[in-house]
Amino acid sequence: MTSSPSHPLAPLEAESQGERAQATREMFSAIAPRYDLLNHLLSLNIDRSWRRRAVDRLDWDARPGGSYLDVCAGTLDLAIEIAGRPEFTGHVVAVDFSQAMLRNGIPKIARRPVAPVCADALRLPAVSGGFDGAMVAFGVRNLADIDAALVELRRVLRAGARLVILDFALPMRQPLKWFYRFYFTRLLPFAGRVISKHSHAYKYLPESVLRFGRPEELGACLAAAGYREVDWKLVTGGIACIWWGTA
Ligand SMILES: C[S@@+](CC[C@H](N)C(=O)[O-])C[C@H]1O[C@@H](n2cnc3c(N)ncnc32)[C@H](O)[C@@H]1O
Repeated sequence: MTSSPSHPLAPLEAESQGERAQATREMFSAIAPRYDLLNHLLSLNIDRSWRRRAVDRLDWDARPGGSYLDVCAGTLDLAIEIAGRPEFTGHVVAVDFSQAMLRNGIPKIARRPVAPVCADALRLPAVSGGFDGAMVAFGVRNLADIDAALVELRRVLRAGARLVILDFALPMRQPLKWFYRFYFTRLLPFAGRVISKHSHAYKYLPESVLRFGRPEELGACLAAAGYREVDWKLVTGGIACIWWGTA
């Protein structure tokens, strides 16, 4: 990305990147046992439909027997969403750098073709051009260097394969804007702290979304990382957004 250092999605300095990555890994590992409960509770279960809609954007049905990648896979809900589709005959490699998050997802895999791998999104242990599609749900916001991750994801995608990103956005229309900000910055941190017993993870969530910027900015990062046909769609009144681009 050709942004100034003050741009919300600009990469951090190398030293801060290491610190940020470690803090992020520790935070998710600490909340891992309560992550699913809080996800579904605090989103009123809407997160499930957002993941369904993200998978619908992946064009996986053009290659139902292909290899797909879920990065920042957490407790594996997105990987399971695609691997559980009746017509899906391929497999999903689900990468996360928190073992605790992956471990909490493993019982949900059952017999679906999902392979959890503990690795960093910025250094994927995969050959170039090997995947037919990649997805990241609620993960890019946490990355220390979004631009580098987008380039790394493009490296492992075959030419013509799609990357789909799902993350929070901020509704811009009243009254949803007011209500959502109140919920997101007041109620959610309180409920998150009580249930997860983690002092700041659910304060970090709204802060990172507020810092994340407008959907156009991630769209520009995708284009700068070399993706074609970049586009995005706001969902649920702009509470979340799905971006996609072709490698
Ligand atoms: C909010 S969770 C999202 C989990 C899952 N995708 C979902 O839809 O619920 C973000 C995940 O990204 C992972 N993560 C953050 N930075 C990462 C990195 N550099 N490499 C791999 N995983 C990372 C965290 O460990 C965490 O599990």
